Amino acid sequence: MKDGDVELLNEIDRFEASVDMEKEYRIGWSWRHVRIWPVTLSRLFKDGYLENVFRSNSYTGYKLSDLGKKLVEGARAEAASVTKQDENLAISDNLFEDIIGHQEVKELLKAALLAEKPVHVLLTGPPALAKTLFLWDIERVGGEKAIWLVGSATSKAGLWDMVAERQPRILLIDELDKMNAADTAALLTMMEGGRLVRAKKGRELDLSNPLRVVAASNRMDMLSPELRSRFAIRRLNPYDRVEFLTVVKGVLVRREGLNTELADGIAQALDGRSQDVRDAIRVARLAPQLGIERAVILLLGG
Ligand SMILES: Nc1ncnc2c1ncn2[C@@H]1O[C@H](COP(=O)(O)OP(=O)(O)O)[C@@H](O)[C@H]1O
Ligand SMILES: [Mg+2]
Repeated sequence: MKDGDVELLNEIDRFEASVDMEKEYRIGWSWRHVRIWPVTLSRLFKDGYLENVFRSNSYTGYKLSDLGKKLVEGARAEAASVTKQDENLAISDNLFEDIIGHQEVKELLKAALLAEKPVHVLLTGPPALAKTLFLWDIERVGGEKAIWLVGSATSKAGLWDMVAERQPRILLIDELDKMNAADTAALLTMMEGGRLVRAKKGRELDLSNPLRVVAASNRMDMLSPELRSRFAIRRLNPYDRVEFLTVVKGVLVRREGLNTELADGIAQALDGRSQDVRDAIRVARLAPQLGIERAVILLLGG
């Protein structure tokens, strides 16, 4: 079998599919029909990919043999699986490893990202619960396939054109409550998937390769009911005291580069005084100048 033979067989298969082999081509097609040189056809025949249905002085009629058909199907299946793999996101076990706790949210988001058909997820709840961090982590694995927005699309063209142009698989929207009306309208349509036509320019957007949306919003009261109903809304509850200590220590050591002793000291100093991880980060940044106690007093009031 030579390079390019699979393509030739593919061509032939497409030709056969486009005509009525039973009626019009009972004696097989000839080289003129498929536009492949007779020598090449006779080689494919010798290799068993073609059947010789008819032969006279003036006409040699072929059709694909079972072996030829198998080869074409095999090549197609392989091509399809390669595309599919390429489309799959690299969701690994360590996707959300920098986020402490939130086990159920992690599980939900992984499932939503891997689901064959999209399930859109909206994370909501008070500030400093790692909502934005979740979006960041997804953006990291999404790479080119992900678009990140804070509120609305910043380009003048807007969300619709951005999606039409870049064909993302994932749309990450932080602070969804700040999205403008035009982008929200586009989003509502896109979240339903399928082949979409934009009324104004008649510009079509093919979302048969469906878009998944993961969004975050502190506030829910700003969102319209129709937008809300398109999302699985997952509320993140404020950390309890034990969780707060764990998260603060983890964040200060891993992200702010403190040693465990200092991180522990700051966590203890804030215990019962704050539930905001960002307070801990501010204390950590001022502590080298002020000391932990003083930083806490100045930041939170004595
Ligand atoms: N569970 C957590 N694991 C890791 N970091 C956290 C966690 N919760 C809060 N943080 C930290 O708190 C800060 C605020 O998180 P962010 O994702 O911006 O919160 P949100 O978007 O919910 O307001 C970030 O520095 C983040 O690293
Ligand atoms: Mg945020």
